[in-house]
Parts: sequence; C-alpha cells; structure tokens
Amino acid sequence: MNRAWWKESVVYQIYPRSFKDTTGNGLGDIYGIIEKLDYIKALNVDVVWICPVYESPNNDNGYDISDYRTISEEFGGNSAFDLLLKKMHDKGLKLVMDLVANHTSDQHEWFQQAKKTKTNPYRDYYHWKSSKNGEAPNNWQSIFGGTVWSHNETTNDFYLHLFTKEQPDLNWENPKVRQEIYDVVRFWANKGVDGFRMDVISLISKQKEFPNTIYDNYQDTIKNYYANGPKIHEYLQEMNKEVLSKYDLMTVGEGPGIDLDNGLDYVHHDRGELNMVFHFDHMFIDAGPKGKYDIVDFDLNDFKSVFNQWDQLLKQGGWGSIFLGNHDFSRMVSRFGNDKKFHKRSAKALAMLLLTLRGTVYIYQGDEIGMTNVAYPSINDYNDVETLQAWQEAQMNGEDMDVFLKKVHLQSRDNARTPMQWDKSLHAGFSNSKPWLTVNSNYKTINVKSQDNDPLSILNFYRDMILFRKENLCLVYGDYECLDEHHQQIFAYRRNDGQREFLVVHNMSCDPITWRSTVNHHQYTLLKTNTESTQIGFEFEPWQSKIFIKT
Ligand code: GLC
Repeated sequence: MNRAWWKESVVYQIYPRSFKDTTGNGLGDIYGIIEKLDYIKALNVDVVWICPVYESPNNDNGYDISDYRTISEEFGGNSAFDLLLKKMHDKGLKLVMDLVANHTSDQHEWFQQAKKTKTNPYRDYYHWKSSKNGEAPNNWQSIFGGTVWSHNETTNDFYLHLFTKEQPDLNWENPKVRQEIYDVVRFWANKGVDGFRMDVISLISKQKEFPNTIYDNYQDTIKNYYANGPKIHEYLQEMNKEVLSKYDLMTVGEGPGIDLDNGLDYVHHDRGELNMVFHFDHMFIDAGPKGKYDIVDFDLNDFKSVFNQWDQLLKQGGWGSIFLGNHDFSRMVSRFGNDKKFHKRSAKALAMLLLTLRGTVYIYQGDEIGMTNVAYPSINDYNDVETLQAWQEAQMNGEDMDVFLKKVHLQSRDNARTPMQWDKSLHAGFSNSKPWLTVNSNYKTINVKSQDNDPLSILNFYRDMILFRKENLCLVYGDYECLDEHHQQIFAYRRNDGQREFLVVHNMSCDPITWRSTVNHHQYTLLKTNTESTQIGFEFEPWQSKIFIKT
C-alpha cells in the first residue's frame, strides 16, 4: 500500500455558519474558526475541511456560489480567510475547501448574463431546453423536490437545476466552463489550500438528450440519469491532468449515485481522477424508494455489509472515506448509536468504529462531544431548504403533517446544523446574540467546556483515539477482515498489516452479550475499551467496544 499524507490524516469538518460567531450577528464566521484553532489542534486531527464560505445569497447555505474567488463578508472576507490559512499552516494543520462546481447560484454573473438572450456569450454555461405547451421538458424531479426545470421569461425556455431553482447546473460540455472551474481551483491552490471536497461531483456530466426517467425508485433515477454521466471520467481526468496533479492536493468527491458498481472508477490510483469519494450507501440506508423521508428499517447486518463491501472494492486499488455524519444528515449518535440511556457510551463506540476502519476518517463538528439530533416543535423553527421543500411537497400530497414533523425530526439536515455547543452559557457560547438556528436544548449537559477536563468524556475519548490511530498505522493501512459477519449485535473485525494484528469488537446494541466466537480470546490482549469495565474477554456491556492486540 503506497503511503500518502491524506490517507493517514484525520479530517475535521466545519460548518462555519454554526461553529463560532465572533461578531454577534448570530452567524458563525472565520474569525470564530481562528479563535478555536487550539481546540481543533488539541483534537489531534490533521486536516480541516470547511464547508463553503464564498459569496452566496445563501439559499442553500453557501452551496449556491455567486463568486468563486471572494469569501463572503459575512464570514470575514478574503482577509479573514488568508489569516485562517496562515494560522492553520503555522500550527501544522491543513485546509480543505469545498468546491461546488456542478452548479452556481442564479445570482452568479454567468447566470445573470446567460438568461438575458439566446446569443449571450454565457448562454452555453448552463443547460437550456424548450418544450411543447410550456411544460417541463422531462419528468426529472429535483433532489430537493419539484421539477428540475425552471422557466426563463426572456428566452422562453427552461434551465436545468438538479437542486433548487436558485442553483442552475453548469454545462461542463462547454470547454470554457471547465477552464473557469480549473482556474478557480488554481486560484485557491496557489494561495496554499491543501485540497478540495468536491460537491456532488458525480453529477457534472449530463445526458444531453435529457431522457425521461423510467424508474420509480429515486436512487435509481439519480444513479442512471443524474449521476455518472457519459463524460464524467473524461472531465475528472482532464481536471486532474490540467490542475490537480500540479499540486500536492487531497481530493474527495461527493457523490450521489456513486456505488459499488462504479466507485472504483472514480478513485483507482491508475486512473488519475480523485483520491477518495464520499458514497452514501450507509447514509441512505434508511431511505425507501421515494427518498429519505420515505423511511425504512435497517439492521446491523445491512450496516456492516456496506463497510465490508466497500473495503473489498477499494482494496483493489482505491482508497476510502470513513464517516458517519456530516452537515447533510442527522447526528451520528442519534442515528447509529443511542442518544438516550447509552448516549456517552454509544458515542464513544462509534468513535472507536470510525477510527479503526480502513480509509481516511472524517469527523463532523460536534460529533466529538456527542451532539444529538434536535426536535424543534414546529416547522417554522427549521431553516434548511431541503426540509422546507419536502414539507411543502408533503402538504401538497395531503400527508398527515404531524407524522411528517416526526420524520423531519429524524431526517432534517438541520439536525447537524444546530450551533456548536461550547459551554452552558446563553446560546451555548456560540454567539452572544440569537443564533441563526436555535441551539439544541441539551447544550447545558452536552458541551465542550464540561467535557474538556473530564478524562472520561466523549471529547477526551476522541482525542485519545485519534492519537491512537496515528500511532498505529496498522489501523490506517492494515487489511480489514470482518468476523462473524451475520451477527445481529456484534461488529467485529481484524486489522492486520503483516506485522501486527488488532481485533476490534463492538457490541452495537443496548443489551449485554457474550460474543461466542471461533476466535480464541486468549491470543489477544485488551488495549482499549469505552467503559470502565475491566473485563478482558469477549463479554460486552451494552454499547461496549474493545480493541485487542494479538500477542
Ligand atoms: C451537497 C452538499 C449539500 C448541498 C448540495 C447541493 O450534497 O453537501 O449541502 O445542499 O450538495 O450543493
């Protein structure tokens, strides 16, 4: 296995809006990140990925960019960013930016021009289609609900937007568009940025004829019509050749529609495309045919099999990303752990899981203190455009809205976007005025300050586990072998790099259990666990995890 810094890194993801406000306007900002750099450094992470901070009307909180080279004044402007980058580098931290290249904001100059006339030089920067009788040109549904086509008065045709109508999709067929994006990458790479997380990169190549989807299952539509288009690999190879390869950058492509059938094509080291992708096989594990609000049950076997199958695939020449949450999904402890009786323990168990799997590990802000889902009493408390559009659609479909609010509690992206809980003072120490999104009411018990000096806290467990991973490269590169694959409570695996072997066993359930295994526990010595129990064998308390080493 070839070593690389980005394989050995642990990445901390920041959602700047919700991290720390220093100006008192209720919005997090870059100076807030600067203020917390010692905190970040003390987590022992290597890389910080910050969600978009560019100029934006914030229809989708920065994922609608109106100027790729300007940092929004709200966040502190370009000078704040330059300072952040310098301070991070001084501390030995690397900075990864979000590159949103599938679409721009409708306020971007390119789109403002493009919509003027059919002959405007920027017209071909976007996708246009006319239709008979003024109806949408095809039956595609936006990822946030409603049709993907919006009518443009002046030219009397439609433009494509796979997300909101304020996020028109760029036309990558146009070589000028590609050069513009490569220039943006160059601009930030020349400043010294260390990498890019590429937003919905799997969507950039379109099927030019825009055929109707034949599928009822939304994931099938995404995979076969929106994502993995005919020229996707041509574009990624071109971008790599023309820009990425000229720098020492880390790249991770986010990818709806990326799955086991096509995942390796994006990341195989011989292909010269991306270092890693974020696939969503575990993140949409509970999404039914109609999408994430069509919630279906899943069990531990489904969950394990995602990790097993991806490891099998990627060991053929790729590299994976290991994550259990981000700004688009509910909180990992609420979703995959237990945010009630076993909150602390399950948060630690999931930390141990993340930090002992093969791949680059991504930790989302707040997960290191076990932040949980929020359940606002009313839809009016929610901000996320996806949640609000789903709500509207449910209303139009005549759904029972009390039931739908419960689904929102489970699935809304705002679960992950509530302000970071720094301490128990008003607004959780995030801001001294009313935050843009209401703080989770549990901030008095779950916050950084209360965990900072507590050796048994979730926070200190993360700090310690991250260090442990870094001191044991076997956990980064070693082979992964799942044991007792179909066990309903236990997630167990070996990590072996030819020199050492770790055995990691998690009881991912609320019941105690003795793991009856073919593995001889006398060959293993217990190194770490997430509870105070000193039991050294295969007996597990609820949500107990253990790391053993073969002796
Ligand atoms: C990605 C982002 C998400 C955003 C969407 C559209 O999925 O992570 O937050 O809404 O792309 O840019």
